[in-house]
Amino acid sequence: MVKGEVTLRNRRQGSPAWLTDAAIYQIYPRSFQDSDGDGIGDLEGVRQRLPYVRSLGFDGIWLSPIYPSPLADGGYDISDHSAVDPVLGTLESFDALLAEARANKLKVLLDLVPSHTSIEHAWFRDHPEWYVWADGGPPNNWLSAFGGPAWSKDEPSGRWYLHSFYREQPDLNWRHPEVQEAVGQVMAFWLARGVDGFRVDAVDRLAKDPSLRDDHPATGPWLLPLPPEYATLSHVHSRDADDVDELVGVLRRRAGDAALIGEVYRPTEELERFVNHFDLVFAFEFMFASWHPEAIARVVEPAVRLGQIAWVLSNHDFSRLASRLGEDNLRLAATLLLTLPGAAFVFQGDELGLRDGPGVHPPFDRAGRDGSRHPMQWDATPTGGFSSARPWLPLVDPEHRNVETAEEDPSSLLTLYRSLLSLRRCFGTGFEVLLVDSTVLAYRRGQHVVTLNFGDEPRQAVGEGAVVLNTDPGQHFRIAPARGAAVLYAESSRSSCLR
Ligand code: NOJ
Repeated sequence: MVKGEVTLRNRRQGSPAWLTDAAIYQIYPRSFQDSDGDGIGDLEGVRQRLPYVRSLGFDGIWLSPIYPSPLADGGYDISDHSAVDPVLGTLESFDALLAEARANKLKVLLDLVPSHTSIEHAWFRDHPEWYVWADGGPPNNWLSAFGGPAWSKDEPSGRWYLHSFYREQPDLNWRHPEVQEAVGQVMAFWLARGVDGFRVDAVDRLAKDPSLRDDHPATGPWLLPLPPEYATLSHVHSRDADDVDELVGVLRRRAGDAALIGEVYRPTEELERFVNHFDLVFAFEFMFASWHPEAIARVVEPAVRLGQIAWVLSNHDFSRLASRLGEDNLRLAATLLLTLPGAAFVFQGDELGLRDGPGVHPPFDRAGRDGSRHPMQWDATPTGGFSSARPWLPLVDPEHRNVETAEEDPSSLLTLYRSLLSLRRCFGTGFEVLLVDSTVLAYRRGQHVVTLNFGDEPRQAVGEGAVVLNTDPGQHFRIAPARGAAVLYAESSRSSCLR
């Protein structure tokens, strides 16, 4: 257990101050708001909904990829990094979105996908030397994360190219200076337009073993979930070669002091080498910790010590929170996510408790991730206020869950998110665990004490003071309800930070 108070620190000089404890809302653009009636969300739709995001209390948005893409991987297969997918809009609609974000005091983070491109990117034809090749067949046993070998044959040349993900996504060779230059120019392009930084995709795939040695058979389960076939190997050579931090340093030099948040899908103890250049790294071990206070405390404490952490419980790649943890746990999860010290990321729709949808047949995503990408539900109509046309993925249950109804309900999950996003502004960066047992995790955040109750019976809240937040609406006793939480404020009056 962390002894005494720990204060978050960011060791990168020049790291943007706003980011340290920012709350960022992740938007999957195709599923947020359709403005032109084609059934697919777009940038103008995002622009129109930014006042909603701000009204909840977020500090910024992260837009999943907005670039032209053949959509083999939901937009993470980019065919032109310096343009907007015409289905989503134009550079002008992006500029309008950015202006609206500024007007709403929201920062904007784009998705930067440096480790691979779409096979349809002009670079693959015009600069084949920018990719990773082998002759005469796959040179090793490396696997693609989504199944099958990580090598495919390029019929025109008869050579084999590496793809850590789908075969439509050839890996760039990051040791080639022209690749660094080309991606640097992409970053400069968007930074010049005014974005505040990037969430950087698949960082651990930037550098692989230069001599392409085989990965080893896995000796047991890894700390984070992996697709079954991919999990048969221990990826000692196909990911994270020794020079990965040097390559991340290249990204940092190109970014200047813009925000860089690393998607480094590794256990916390392996993240240290990344935080010299990234401002934040996602806390994936936290995302997948068993839903038990002792297990949560075990993953929170090293992450807090690391300091530059982006807490996250869901995104477009995994089953939604409501489906993973069950609806009973959503208030507890929201309180945990938004009261820990440091930045927090919330996936669109989690404030409504959206569940996984059924996807469609045939699926858009062959790896089975359509379920978490169903459109936002703005109102109770059959298309959920998302679109006037048939949505590209069906709505799940707008009649039960939608923004309009939740906004009017003081006891809704959405109202709790709003309260938490307001309350977290009072906390500062200090953190001290006060109690962990088989049902409760309690910690101090400045003058506040948060008691999270994972059990089935109510528990006395830890600490003294007035109840400033209780996940059981209208409850003002110092009780953390079953599968809920209470936050006390150590001074006798109610915290001025709450509305
Ligand atoms: C991580 C992204 O979040 C995921 O959606 C994508 O499939 C892979 N990286 C490859 O880009």
